[in-house]
Amino acid sequence: MNIKKIIADSIDYGDFNFENMIIESISADKGDFSLPCFSLAKELKKSPMLIAEEIKASVKESEYIKKVEIVSGYVNFFLNIPLIAETVLTEFKDNSAFKSGEGKGKVVCIDYGSPNLAKYLHIGHLKTTIIGESLARLFEQLGYTVKRLNYVGDYGTPFGKIIGGLKLWGSIEEVKSRGNDALQEYYVRFNKEEENNPELSQMARDIFKKIEEKDAEIYPLYEFIINIAKEDCKRMFDLLGVHFDDWRGESYYNNYVEDTRALLESKNLLVDSQGAKIVDLTSYDLTPAVIFKSDGTSLYVTRDICAVLKRKAEYNFDKMIYVTDIAQILNFKQLFKIMELAGCDFYKDMEHVAYGRFSLPDGKISSRRGKQAVLVDLIEYTLNHANEVIADRKFEIENPEDVAKKVTRAVINYSVLKTERIKDSVFEVDKAFAFDGETAPYMQYTYTRLASILRKYTETSTECDLSALNEDAFQIVKMINSFNDAISLALTKRDPSIVSKKLIDLCKAFNKYYNSTKILDGNIASTNAKIKLIRALKTTLSVGFNLICIDTLEEM
Ligand code: ARG
Repeated sequence: MNIKKIIADSIDYGDFNFENMIIESISADKGDFSLPCFSLAKELKKSPMLIAEEIKASVKESEYIKKVEIVSGYVNFFLNIPLIAETVLTEFKDNSAFKSGEGKGKVVCIDYGSPNLAKYLHIGHLKTTIIGESLARLFEQLGYTVKRLNYVGDYGTPFGKIIGGLKLWGSIEEVKSRGNDALQEYYVRFNKEEENNPELSQMARDIFKKIEEKDAEIYPLYEFIINIAKEDCKRMFDLLGVHFDDWRGESYYNNYVEDTRALLESKNLLVDSQGAKIVDLTSYDLTPAVIFKSDGTSLYVTRDICAVLKRKAEYNFDKMIYVTDIAQILNFKQLFKIMELAGCDFYKDMEHVAYGRFSLPDGKISSRRGKQAVLVDLIEYTLNHANEVIADRKFEIENPEDVAKKVTRAVINYSVLKTERIKDSVFEVDKAFAFDGETAPYMQYTYTRLASILRKYTETSTECDLSALNEDAFQIVKMINSFNDAISLALTKRDPSIVSKKLIDLCKAFNKYYNSTKILDGNIASTNAKIKLIRALKTTLSVGFNLICIDTLEEM
């Protein structure tokens, strides 16, 4: 329900947008909602105190408003809590109240994850993956059809190096048994030996050329190693709870470079520059974009042009969102400008969602796979930590492995989504596990508390006395009621941390209430009222957790 609108509608005073001016009161003695009158003073040429008095006098009787008071320029509204609680808790008893039809019939493509397959997934990939997934879920919540696109980097000389390494020092059997670890070793060794042996560079280029020509010997090898690398990626994404619809990457879209050439030529956009073909963007304050190198091969931006043309044709998206590191900002500015100049009107629907850096505290997590910890190291470390915590706390649970997995996923995903998207953040594993801070386990634990209360309780009558809900309980009611605003805002700002923040606040509010209130108090009517609140809260948390990629647990 729109409480602010109900209050605003009760005011019969001039032609102002009171709905936007009403705020939640800061303390219970100031009512539940307040209207500050200061901004009206100038226009009305009256003192805020006088305006507040006049507004108070104008308030029409409403079953929702219990009393109105004025305190130094504020009109404070005390509401009929049981009636509002009844309306809100009935509205939010199941998750249908959190769905909206705003995106019905609209398609949103989100390009995220999108790692380069020649390397291990590194810590930085967490941000694109989890922010992208959260945005996908937010869009779905509002009824959009979402296409999850994992635009893998599977093109370029690095793959020539891996195959070169395999031929020189490895074997198919080794790759079959050791998987991506073997491929990574070839790559690292190749790069190292290349420093003293320039012939190796030529070898890598030759092999890559053969990949492009779909050479009968090399191409199957390429497909073989790509599949191994993809499987490894998929395993990581599965652990994080992320699943893609489309894995076509750079090499796939590179098959369509001629369409791109034709389009850009038809618009006279391709200019010669020292043998290369570029699009001159200097009059738009951008550096020129090289589209074809002098040897005719494509570049990163070229393949993105190919991809967006194909995606438009295939998905007919209403929005095409790219989630990457802020370092790629120039690439996307160039891409969008080129699409505009090429007369593709959908350039307006293309959007770059950038994020800040994500790092680990120095030396905290050691790596078995190289100098720096990579994503799999982080996941393993976190999983071990989760297992220790579970063993320490002696949880009596049926499936500790499943709980450890879900806690691990929550800890990692929340470490990304708790911070504003654009800010840099550091993953502090030990803090992330505290059960009493602003952490994912704290949230999951709060949820199990709700689940456990509901398990213990069987309703024997429908009697329900909502006047048993005190101020603390009413805080929770208000927060549930405004949760949809947080969802909308998070989507508009493309920033899931808004939902995270709201969920933490909800958990805190509930724990405060729980610590001072006996829920199962022996009185049927008042217990039923509290149970009604707990049901709506549990629904709200489960919707919210899903949006920020945290699994709910019924017990832990
Ligand atoms: N593979 C790139 C990287 O790891 C990200 C790709 C982003 N998507 C795109 N369409 N350019 O940095």
